Amino acid sequence: MKTVPVLCPTIDEQTKKDLLEVLDSGWWGSGPKVLEFEEKFAEKVGSKYAISTSSGTAALDLCLKVYGIKGGELITTPFTFVSDAIVGEYNDMDVTFADIKADDFCIDPEKIEITPETKAIIAVDSHGHLADIKAIREKAGDILVIEDAAHAMYTPGAGKDAVITIWSFQAVKSLPIGDGGMITTNDKEIYNKLRTLTWLGVEKTTYSRAVGKKYSWDYDITQAEGIKGYMNDIAAVIGIGQLRRIDEMNAKRRAHQSVYDDAFKGIRYIKTPKPTVTCQYYTMQCYNRDGLSEVLAENGIATSVHFKPLHEMTYWKKGAKNPMPVVDKLWKNLLTLPVHDGLKFSDQERIIELVKDFYQLQGSAEIIHGPIPMSWEEDERSDIL
Ligand SMILES: Cc1ncc(COP(=O)(O)O)c(C=O)c1O
Repeated sequence: MKTVPVLCPTIDEQTKKDLLEVLDSGWWGSGPKVLEFEEKFAEKVGSKYAISTSSGTAALDLCLKVYGIKGGELITTPFTFVSDAIVGEYNDMDVTFADIKADDFCIDPEKIEITPETKAIIAVDSHGHLADIKAIREKAGDILVIEDAAHAMYTPGAGKDAVITIWSFQAVKSLPIGDGGMITTNDKEIYNKLRTLTWLGVEKTTYSRAVGKKYSWDYDITQAEGIKGYMNDIAAVIGIGQLRRIDEMNAKRRAHQSVYDDAFKGIRYIKTPKPTVTCQYYTMQCYNRDGLSEVLAENGIATSVHFKPLHEMTYWKKGAKNPMPVVDKLWKNLLTLPVHDGLKFSDQERIIELVKDFYQLQGSAEIIHGPIPMSWEEDERSDIL
């Protein structure tokens, strides 16, 4: 039995051809395809400048570095991948988590407690929902607010209210390349500095020295700064191809989102997620999450949990300096079902049948009469119970 993956990238024939051309071109490093991808990306998301990176994590790290942030406190959400926290440690910062909102899983501006030590805030557009960057910036004043739009490629409005935004093209993001990231900004000075920081402080890229009549070998380094974090043309050519198809891929993801929403409407054991444009993850709240996940796995359906909060990880417990009742209650019932543009509707129907069967079997026991012990029992869905 072939497993239905929970997330899975696809590529079209044209992009495969374009990739082969790059492989035969003799230029695999950062070159013309990188510049083309950056230009097209900036246009798509409505930003003046875009600078590509080797990953979303590198992009986050570079956002702190380009503003010269070293030490102090970084505030972020615990409901994310570890990248948003570890970049604090890369830059000698103390990481503090702030609780999220139950409806959109984004950091709650009211739960952000600015201290004299706070130097930066990273807000994630969780699952494709846009974080309230305006409210966070209002509260933050001069403190740097970075928007992490790794799940929001592309949701209209993503990156619009932030001074600096990062994106990820990791293998299972809505715009998958394999690995890669992007930083967008409207600030030319920051853009120029970022270019240098993506390559260890080297002032001119190899490509800029190679174009034109003769190769110019000389370059300068004026400071020990930056990381090796630029994108190469092999990744960029895939990015250009994926960008061409992004609206189509997201439309397919939204179609799957609607099919689940319709199928699960009214089932009292499931709370469907608020819809998003990208549907980066179809993460529902459900009764007996682990039991359902197990049954689906036995039937060749992969599921996941987005996210086990960071402060549930041994190392990151230290980031939980304040209570986080919302995320603590929420995550234990979360389950991500397969959604990707390569998912077959016939496979999705099978998943839906398995979910419904699971709850009919569950419902035949005491659960159908007794109270359902799930964390959202008291909320607005209690009328369904
Ligand atoms: C919200 C978020 N931010 C950042 C990252 C890091 O991106 P990358 O894997 O490209 O380094 C991820 C990756 O999963 C993510 O989910």
